[in-house]
Amino acid sequence: MIELKNVSKTYVNNSIGVENASFYVNDGEFVFIVGKSGSGKSTLLKLLTKELSPTSGDIFVYNLSLNKIGRKELPYYRRLLGIIDKNISLMEQKTVYENLELAMLAAQQPSKKIKDSIPRALGLVGMNKKINEYPSNMSEGERLRILIARAVVNNPKIIIADEPTASLDYETAWDIMCLFNDINRLGITVIIATHAKKFVDIMKKRVITLNNGKVLGDVKKGKYGWIV
Ligand SMILES: Nc1ncnc2c1ncn2[C@@H]1O[C@H](COP(=O)(O)OP(=O)(O)OP(=O)(O)O)[C@@H](O)[C@H]1O
Ligand SMILES: [Mg+2]
Repeated sequence: MIELKNVSKTYVNNSIGVENASFYVNDGEFVFIVGKSGSGKSTLLKLLTKELSPTSGDIFVYNLSLNKIGRKELPYYRRLLGIIDKNISLMEQKTVYENLELAMLAAQQPSKKIKDSIPRALGLVGMNKKINEYPSNMSEGERLRILIARAVVNNPKIIIADEPTASLDYETAWDIMCLFNDINRLGITVIIATHAKKFVDIMKKRVITLNNGKVLGDVKKGKYGWIV
């Protein structure tokens, strides 16, 4: 469960990232965050991952106040999350297996679990055959699948992705959206910031629309641009 209470984030240059956002996300929901460029989508996701802290207000994740999480607790909080961000890319000199292994070692998982979980996560994204491949030998869509496998390998409660399909062709992007739907069906909460109007319209998930940092619309089975 995620709850935002009057969350605002103003950057040092006074530009508004997010303004007075309040909403709940229940366990197992699938939420699209949409809005024009500069409307605050990435800021909102960074507040959820605690890459940024609010200027005012607070966010509660499973009743844990993010404002109260210190540097020491942050890695434990992050274990609840699977973050898909192209800025946190794969290590090119490591194989797919090793990339996922590193994520699991960082979460102090035991070796038996590591051996079991990696093939399972790769199976989920349809990439078992690439287990010993290097990321540099893979297509962009394949690399994204590996990023998703890495995000789910530690069994997160919440997946957070910032424009995951932005640079993909239509078919690959649709496959990736379906993959997020499969992940959501496992009970994992999925939050995706996107400009992909077509997919948002087809998938009829909850759509939160931002405008100048404010929540302009929040529709249960919404479409892109529906403001209610
Ligand atoms: N590091 C920063 N310093 C100052 N202002 C910032 C910073 N990051 C974002 N902003 C400002 O905050 C506002 C929201 O930006 P944000 O990146 O959250 O928008 P966005 O909806 O993700 O846009 P896009 O669709 O282009 O990714 C914009 O006005 C932007 O200029
Ligand atoms: Mg953005």
